[in-house]
Amino acid sequence: MPASALMNVMINATRKASRRLIRDFNEVEQLQVSVKGPSDFVTQADLACEKTLFEELSKAREGYGFLMEEQGTIQGSDKTHRWIIDPLDGTTNFLHGIPLFAISIALERDGELVAALVYNPAMDEFYTAERGKGAFLNDRRLRVAGRKTLSQSVVVTGIPHRGRGNHDQQLQEQRAVMQEVSGVRRTGSAALDLAWVASGRFDAYWERGIQAWDMAAGILLVREAGGMVTDMDGKDDMLKKGDILAASVPIHKSMYKTLTK
Ligand code: IPD
Repeated sequence: MPASALMNVMINATRKASRRLIRDFNEVEQLQVSVKGPSDFVTQADLACEKTLFEELSKAREGYGFLMEEQGTIQGSDKTHRWIIDPLDGTTNFLHGIPLFAISIALERDGELVAALVYNPAMDEFYTAERGKGAFLNDRRLRVAGRKTLSQSVVVTGIPHRGRGNHDQQLQEQRAVMQEVSGVRRTGSAALDLAWVASGRFDAYWERGIQAWDMAAGILLVREAGGMVTDMDGKDDMLKKGDILAASVPIHKSMYKTLTK
């Protein structure tokens, strides 16, 4: 399917921003062995990527508002549209030279997610979706996995690290899930976790305590690939509450039961 004008804008901005990100990632791999380490450098890479996305998207769609990981909220003159952006999801992976990170861009219109893009530069994988038009990996239409039982499923989660989140709750949930499934994974990029649920690589993804920019694009990808996304109360309030469960419809039901019992 040819990309719409809107999707072309998102793809072009991403391509431009990702060129620098890839260059910086190659540099980070060299910096691993230095005493100072690459963390300042990665912060700069993150900021530079966000700046390019902001400039390119502002130029192409004047007046739209922004919610971005680094700069926070920027009000636009057009109150009906808002970009939700994570310029570098999977920062810790990037910092360690692990090629699992992504640029994530979502567009909201009147509070509804209408367009999404998740791009993994290391694999050159563009995941895109527009409301009502399906989800794609490059040119290929995506469907969530067809597996019907947890015993066949590989699921992914986000694990809170030092100083963040409720570790006991995470361990309790993981304990319940690992007894039912054929595998539990942790990639370190929520945007990719959701994109991989949309593409059927993973059967489900759950996480608590994440930000709107980590998941906004991925939510639309999963929905447009035929999957189901809710918060941990089974409601549609993920962006506000910061928790999420995404899966195919039958697996969502089983995961929800397992996680809340
Ligand atoms: C993080 C990643 C990670 C998730 C964390 C997020 P960042 O985003 O998405 O997978 O478990 O909750 O904060 O910091 O790399 O943009």
